[in-house]
Amino acid sequence: MLMLGIETSCDETAVGVVEDRFQLRANVIASQIELHAPYGGVVPEVAARAHLEALLPTVDAALVQAGARLSDIDGIAVTAGPGLAGALLVGVSAAKGLALAQGLPLVAVNHLRAHVEVAQLEYGELTPPLIALVVSGGHTSIVRMDEDGAFAELGGTIDDAAGEAFDKIARYLGLPFPGGPEIDRLAHEGDRAAFDFPRALLHDGTYRLSLSGLKTAVVRELRRREAAGEQVVLADVAASFQEAIVDVQVSKTLRAAADHGLDQVVLAGGVAANSRLRARFAAETEANGQRLIVPSIPLCTDNGAMVAASGANLFVRDRTAGLGLAADPNLRLAG
Ligand code: KG4
Ligand code: ZN
Repeated sequence: MLMLGIETSCDETAVGVVEDRFQLRANVIASQIELHAPYGGVVPEVAARAHLEALLPTVDAALVQAGARLSDIDGIAVTAGPGLAGALLVGVSAAKGLALAQGLPLVAVNHLRAHVEVAQLEYGELTPPLIALVVSGGHTSIVRMDEDGAFAELGGTIDDAAGEAFDKIARYLGLPFPGGPEIDRLAHEGDRAAFDFPRALLHDGTYRLSLSGLKTAVVRELRRREAAGEQVVLADVAASFQEAIVDVQVSKTLRAAADHGLDQVVLAGGVAANSRLRARFAAETEANGQRLIVPSIPLCTDNGAMVAASGANLFVRDRTAGLGLAADPNLRLAG
C-alpha cells in the first residue's frame, strides 16, 4: 500500500511517500526559507502563493524519488490542520484534486499527530501508552497516547511555543531566520551557566509551561549589560537561553511520564531537532530506564513523510475523508 502525503501547513511545501505504513519511499521538501527570511518570519500570504507554485512539482519529485507513478498510489493524505489557513487550503485543494482525478481515497491528517507518528518509520509500530512532547514553531504540548491511539493533552505552554521563543530571541540577537537552528549552533560555543535565566513554573507541579517571561528576561538582561557598558558574548546568551528552555521541557515531560507510570517518551516536532534537547532527553531517559523515541532530524522538522505515515494509519482503519474536507487552522491534538 503506497500512501502519498502532502504537507503545506506552514512554510515547507513537502511531499512524502510511505509503503505499508513503515517504509519511507520518498521525502521531498521545497523550502520557503529564502522567501520569508527578509521579513524575519513566515508571511502567510507569501507562504500560500509559494505552496501553489511548488506543490505539483514537489509531488512529481516525490514520485520520482519513490520510483512510482501516480497510478501506483493507493491514497492521498493531506495535513488538514493546525496551521496557516491559506497555506493549508492550498494543500487540501490539491489533495482533493489529485484524489478526484485518480479516483483515490482522501485522508485528513492532524499535523501534530503526524509529528509523533512519523517515528514509526524508524522505530516500527508505536506501542502506546506513552508520553509525547510535541514542540514546534506553533506548539508546545505534553500529551499521553493511549493504547487505542487516542491522544490526551496533559499540558503545554500558556503563552509562546518553544520554537517561537527560539525564533524571537534569535531575531533579537541578530541571527538569521529561522532562529532555532542558529541558536543551537551558536550555543555549542557558549557557556550554559553564564546567565541564570528564569525557568518559569518549573516546580509548580503542573504540566503547564510559560516562555514569555524568559524572552523578556533575556532582552532585559542584555539591555542592562549594554547600558553598563559590559561586553556580552552572544554564544553565552544562546547557550544559557537554550538551557533554560530545555530544563523546563525535559523536567515537565519526564514528570508527566513518571506521574502516569509510563516508560516510553516520544520527542517530536521541529524543536526536537535541537541538539541539546535531544542530548538531555537521551541522558535522562537512560538514567530513568525509560525508552526514548526520537525521529532523526529530517523527520522532526515539517515533512511530507510524516503526513503519509499518519495517513496510512488512518487509511488501514478506513478513516478516510470525503471531498467536502475543509482545512481547520485550529485543529486540536486531542481526540
Ligand atoms: O515543526 P516545525 O518544522 O514547523 C511547525 O510545525 O512549526 O518547527 C519549526 C520550528 C521553528 O521555530 C524552528 O526555529 C525550530 O522548529 N527548530 C529548532 C531547531 N530546528 C528547528 N529549534 C531549536 N533548535 C533546532 N535545532
Ligand atoms: Zn510542524
